[in-house]
Amino acid sequence: MKYVTLGDSDLRVSAACLGGAGFGTQATDEPTFHQLDKFFELGGTFVDSANMYSWWVKTAGAGCSESSLGRWMKARGNRDKVVVATKMGMPHPAFAGSAMNAPTAAVEKGLRRAQIIEECDKSLRRLQTDHIDLYYTHADDRTTPIEETMAGFEVVVRTGKVRQIAVSNFAAWRIAQSNAVARTRAFPRYVAVQQHQTYLRPNPGIDWLHNLPGSEELTDFCKSERVTIVAYSPLLMGGYDRPERRWGVGWLPSPDRERAYGGPDADARLATLESVAKEIGVTNSQLVLAWMVNSTPPVVPLFGASSDAQLAMNMAAIDIKLMPEQMARLNK
Ligand SMILES: NC(=O)c1ccc[n+]([C@@H]2O[C@H](COP(=O)([O-])OP(=O)(O)OC[C@H]3O[C@@H](n4cnc5c(N)ncnc54)[C@H](OP(=O)(O)O)[C@@H]3O)[C@@H](O)[C@H]2O)c1
Repeated sequence: MKYVTLGDSDLRVSAACLGGAGFGTQATDEPTFHQLDKFFELGGTFVDSANMYSWWVKTAGAGCSESSLGRWMKARGNRDKVVVATKMGMPHPAFAGSAMNAPTAAVEKGLRRAQIIEECDKSLRRLQTDHIDLYYTHADDRTTPIEETMAGFEVVVRTGKVRQIAVSNFAAWRIAQSNAVARTRAFPRYVAVQQHQTYLRPNPGIDWLHNLPGSEELTDFCKSERVTIVAYSPLLMGGYDRPERRWGVGWLPSPDRERAYGGPDADARLATLESVAKEIGVTNSQLVLAWMVNSTPPVVPLFGASSDAQLAMNMAAIDIKLMPEQMARLNK
């Protein structure tokens, strides 16, 4: 397993991150514990969660992912070996975690100072830990002044509750503005951005709701500012190896879901991906992950897996070394 440093921070993480949207959503913790055990056996350390995971599973509710991860770390006594990433600030209905509970109105989370401090404390309780390694804003909030948001993060970092901060679903210029404010005030800066990013490029004209895709501009900005890209849902729900779900983007309504990645260069990129994958004897999904890890600077793929076999394949992909000529073909 390769390891990378996030941005210009001191936070070292495995070059692959395991998605936690499914943690704690089943009747017992056993499937979550099993997957986390396997991920760690294969060298993974970097685990992703969020305060709102997984509100849409009515038998589990928001907070179930952090709670299950917390129970696993406690049961295994391995908190110091895990890099815990979690998020706050994405509006979501307030299911209280029972099948009988109907959703109330959308909860306005936002990025206000008090909200950051309060949500951080709640996440720490669920995770049964005294600190979060990487704390993300889950979505932008343009109604709260950037100064206020950065002041909230300054408190949670200064008090030792959070090691490093990051954003998700943010435009490059908003990260630039935020980090400029942080520099002026000597506050902590964002060291990573978690964006929806894959090998295919997004089609113009899609309403992405709160979930923003990556872009060349974001990549260029991150390279120049030393902000690490963490690419969520890189496998398009397995679509690269399943033609019937090629453009799968789970949270978008139809028809945007189907056409989100069917852009003008999609066929050409897919043909190149398939030809390089065949040449080196890996699956298309594995090559997408390997391409990210072999990029300069490396992009950290944040994937899900629904079986041990998928997890093993994804972890093996992280160690694939691509030749410069293969990278050039994939990038062209
Ligand atoms: N920041 C945000 O707003 C945001 C949004 C979404 C997700 N996320 C994070 O990203 C994580 C991953 O998201 P995701 O589950 O959508 O990611 P994904 O990796 O694109 O999709 C995972 C699915 O792909 C299939 N798959 C996995 N490995 C495979 C392989 N080797 N070959 C073929 N198919 C494979 C499986 O589908 P089947 O089960 O059908 O086989 C698996 O459930 C989440 O858990 C969450 O932590 C963040």
